[in-house]
Amino acid sequence: MAGSFSGRTIAFEAVCGGSIPSPAATMPFFQDIPDFDVDEFIRWLGPRLVKTSGQDYAIAMHKEDPTDCSDRTEFFDWHSDGLYLPQPPRFVLLHCLDPGGGEVVTELASVDKVLNSLPLFGLRTLRRLRSHYIGHGGCFDHPILAGDNMLLASRGYISPLPGLSLDDIPSTRDIGEALAELYEELDAAAVPYEWAKGRTLIFEQRKFMHRRESRVIDRDRKLIRMWFS
Ligand SMILES: [Fe+2]
Repeated sequence: MAGSFSGRTIAFEAVCGGSIPSPAATMPFFQDIPDFDVDEFIRWLGPRLVKTSGQDYAIAMHKEDPTDCSDRTEFFDWHSDGLYLPQPPRFVLLHCLDPGGGEVVTELASVDKVLNSLPLFGLRTLRRLRSHYIGHGGCFDHPILAGDNMLLASRGYISPLPGLSLDDIPSTRDIGEALAELYEELDAAAVPYEWAKGRTLIFEQRKFMHRRESRVIDRDRKLIRMWFS
């Protein structure tokens, strides 16, 4: 698969390489674009751009008084971006301006791999649940699973989908067990992506959960974050 960007053709590659045998575990991404021009990319995207907090893109970096977890560099568990939008973006682009100390790693987990690893009962329970994101001045919910696509908040709560019959509402125990299984499989599927200046990662966020693995505050680390559909 290849993508055209301003006359240049950049190969999509598989970040997982041979480390995970399942084809479902591969992911498309751009890598090492030292002359990445964010304004040019925005023009190329046109109406596909999805604004983040009202801006064309954000600089993700540590802030002493963050408005959300993206503005920090400590551990940030599995999540989807843009959950405060009715239609969260399909793609997330991250471009490294400065890796800082290099100890803050982005991890991705293939949703297909996770779903294939879950027991059927737990999967059936997850299909009846929604994830509520708390932030951006409100609380916003999305089904955890729509087909094989996943949306998940790292901070908030879980509830049954609205409109279920009494018999279809999962028990509290079943919900707890399904979530424990989900997080176990997400953790097992984690693939690290280490940052260097100029690296650019693009992933389809309903197909890959992401998290920030970190035990430090890194005030030098800076990533461009951009969304598009
Ligand atoms: Fe994120």
